[in-house]
Amino acid sequence: MFSSAVDSLLDLTIAPGFSRVGWSARRALGQLEPVQVDLTGRNCVVTGANSGIGLEAASQLAALGANVVLVGRSLERLEVARTRVADDASGGAAVTTEVIDLASLDSVRTGASRLIASNPEIDVLVNNAGVLLDSRQLSVDQIELTLATNVLGPFLLTELLRPALAAAASLRPPARIINVSSGGMYSEAVKIDNLQYSDEKWSGSAAYARTKRMQVMLTEYWARQLAGQEIVVSSMHPGWADTPGVESSLPTFHKIVGKALRTPAEGADTITWLAAADAPAQISGSFWHDRRQRPLNRRPGTGSTAGDDELLAKALSDLIAAASA
Ligand SMILES: NC(=O)c1ccc[n+]([C@@H]2O[C@H](COP(=O)([O-])OP(=O)(O)OC[C@H]3O[C@@H](n4cnc5c(N)ncnc54)[C@H](OP(=O)(O)O)[C@@H]3O)[C@@H](O)[C@H]2O)c1
Repeated sequence: MFSSAVDSLLDLTIAPGFSRVGWSARRALGQLEPVQVDLTGRNCVVTGANSGIGLEAASQLAALGANVVLVGRSLERLEVARTRVADDASGGAAVTTEVIDLASLDSVRTGASRLIASNPEIDVLVNNAGVLLDSRQLSVDQIELTLATNVLGPFLLTELLRPALAAAASLRPPARIINVSSGGMYSEAVKIDNLQYSDEKWSGSAAYARTKRMQVMLTEYWARQLAGQEIVVSSMHPGWADTPGVESSLPTFHKIVGKALRTPAEGADTITWLAAADAPAQISGSFWHDRRQRPLNRRPGTGSTAGDDELLAKALSDLIAAASA
C-alpha cells in the first residue's frame, strides 16, 4: 500500500518519477527486482538494437537465454553491437543481425521477408527504434521522416511479422509486441488528418510526441486485433535515460538533467520485464512505465477517443498504399 502510494506520487510529479530518482525509489521499494525467467528457445527481434535502450534490451534478453535478432540500418554498427550482446548472452543464445532501414518501406518489406525466412517463429517483437529530428525532412518514400521512422515503418514491419508472431504464439503462448513510446506523448494529441505535420509550423519535439502517442494508439488497436491469437501488445516509456539519442537530439536537456538521467539499462528494464515476466502476459493494450500500468492522458485535449486508433491504422495503410503505388 505504502509502496503503491509512493509509486503513484512519483508518477504524478514527472521529473522525479521519470529520472533516476524514480528508478532508485522504486528499486528500494522492491518493485524492480531482477527479472529471472529462462527465455531459452524464445526468439526476440529488437529494432534500434545497436544503441542506447535497444542495445540494453537486446543484451538483457540474451542474458536470459533468448535468441535475439538485432535490427538496425547500419551493418557496421550492428556488428559492434552483436559482439557486445553476444558477450552478455547466456547458454546457447544466438545473436544475429538484420539490416532494415525503418524509414524505407522497401527496406522494411525485404527485411521482413528475410526475418521470417530465418525466424519463422517470433516470440517477441520490440519496436524500439526512434528519432527526434531538428528539421522537417522527408523519407525516401517522401513521407515526413519522424512519422516514417517511428510509426509507418514499424507499423508495416509489425503487420508483416504477424504470421511469425502467430506461429510462436501457437507453440509457446503468448507472443508479445512491445512498442517503446515516450512520456513526451502526454504533451500532444494526434491529428489523423495531418499525420505528416504539413499544415502548421513544424516542431521536432511536437512531431516526435505525436508519433509516440500514435504508438500507444496502435498498441490498443493491435491488442484488439490480436486478442484471439494469443499475442499480447504493450507500450511503455523508459523514463529519461542517458543514451546517444538523447545526447545528440536534446543536448540542452541532456546537460541540465545530467546525472539524474537513468542508465540505458534502467531505461530498458520494463521492456525486458514485458517480454519475459508472467504478470504482463495477462494484460494487452496497456501503457507501462517501471513495470506499472500508467494513465494514457495527463493533459486535457491530448487523448484519443474510441475509434481513433482504427482511423489511424486505416490512414497509415492508405499512406503505405499511396507511397507504394
Ligand atoms: N532515452 C530516453 O530518455 C528516451 C525517453 C523516451 C523514449 N525513448 C525512446 O526509446 C527508443 C530508443 O531511444 P534511445 O534513447 O535509445 O536512442 P538512440 O540511442 O538514438 O537509439 C535509437 C536507435 O534507433 C535506430 N534508428 C533510428 N532511425 C532508424 C531507422 N531509420 N531504421 C532503423 N533504425 C533506426 C538508431 O540507429 P542508428 O544508430 O543507425 O541511428 C538507434 O539504434 C526510441 O524509440 C525513443 O523514442 C527514449
